[in-house]
Amino acid sequence: PLVSTKEMFEKAYKGGYAIGAFNVNNMEIVQGIVDAAKEEQSPLILQVSAGARKYAKHIYLIKLVEAALADTDLPIALHLDHGDTFELCKDCIDGGFTSVMIDGSKYDFKENVALTKKVVEYAHAHGVVVEAELGRLAGVEDDVNVSANDAIFTDPEQAAEFVHLTGVDSLAIAIGTSHGAYKFKGTPYLDFDRLEKVGKLLPDFPIVLHGASSVLPEFVKKCNEFGGDIPGAQGVPEEMLRKAASMAVCKINIDTDLRLAMTATVREYLTKNPGEFDPRKYLGPARDAIKGMVQHKIKDVLGSSNRI
Ligand code: G3H
Ligand code: 13P
Ligand code: ZN
Ligand code: NA
Repeated sequence: PLVSTKEMFEKAYKGGYAIGAFNVNNMEIVQGIVDAAKEEQSPLILQVSAGARKYAKHIYLIKLVEAALADTDLPIALHLDHGDTFELCKDCIDGGFTSVMIDGSKYDFKENVALTKKVVEYAHAHGVVVEAELGRLAGVEDDVNVSANDAIFTDPEQAAEFVHLTGVDSLAIAIGTSHGAYKFKGTPYLDFDRLEKVGKLLPDFPIVLHGASSVLPEFVKKCNEFGGDIPGAQGVPEEMLRKAASMAVCKINIDTDLRLAMTATVREYLTKNPGEFDPRKYLGPARDAIKGMVQHKIKDVLGSSNRI
């Protein structure tokens, strides 16, 4: 069934695990993710960005998720990723989503609170839950120093105040992750002390980790081996994700790992089979690679297998 994230997060918080939130843009991506969750009997969040809505159209994505729901009994939440305006959030709330993110992290605290509050009021009146973001999800330079971190990472006291002022259902915080395939220049570092403080100030409150792809070396290697050029790509070590999942983090966002799995597989197939031009021949293996990668995440990293 199509569900909100409320119950998922309550169980995840208590159980010390996290739910994977995977970005979807087309049919093969949806199918690969859903097949993995089915095998693992895991709750699932499918998330759609503004860019995905633009690429595939809202109605096509909705119908793909409806198809997934007809294909399985798993609890699936449909979430707007990085909504940047009230209007976009409203469109998704009116258009069948069960969860929306309003990302006001680029605004100052007061503006972020006001925008988030407005979305929360509308969403809650329509039975939809809201994720917000506080702090900046920027790449951190090599020489990690505390004062630089303080400037961009989420302040725990402010996070608590933000949640109380807005009534938001979950909060994305900045503790060192960033979007994309180049997350760390040197040794990966996440500020777990900060996460722990947030957890203490906001008991039982679900925290979200964006930019949580691991940038799996096998896929980076394959991309580079078959004509790609993504040197120095580095993600969040899976050990750190396991630790975050055992703490207040209940939702872990993964997009880059899907992109890399798909692209590595397509590159390999087309390089090895230059005479083929049937899209099913390379999108099929790409879908299988996504399934395998997502199954690994659910089982070995997030800990959400058999939690429905
Ligand atoms: O946080 C960003 C996600 O990876 C979605 O990316 O906006 O290119 O669809 P996108
Ligand atoms: P990655 O780029 O690490 O996959 O992060 C995805 C994300 O945070 C989507 O909101
Ligand atoms: Zn994100
Ligand atoms: Na957790």
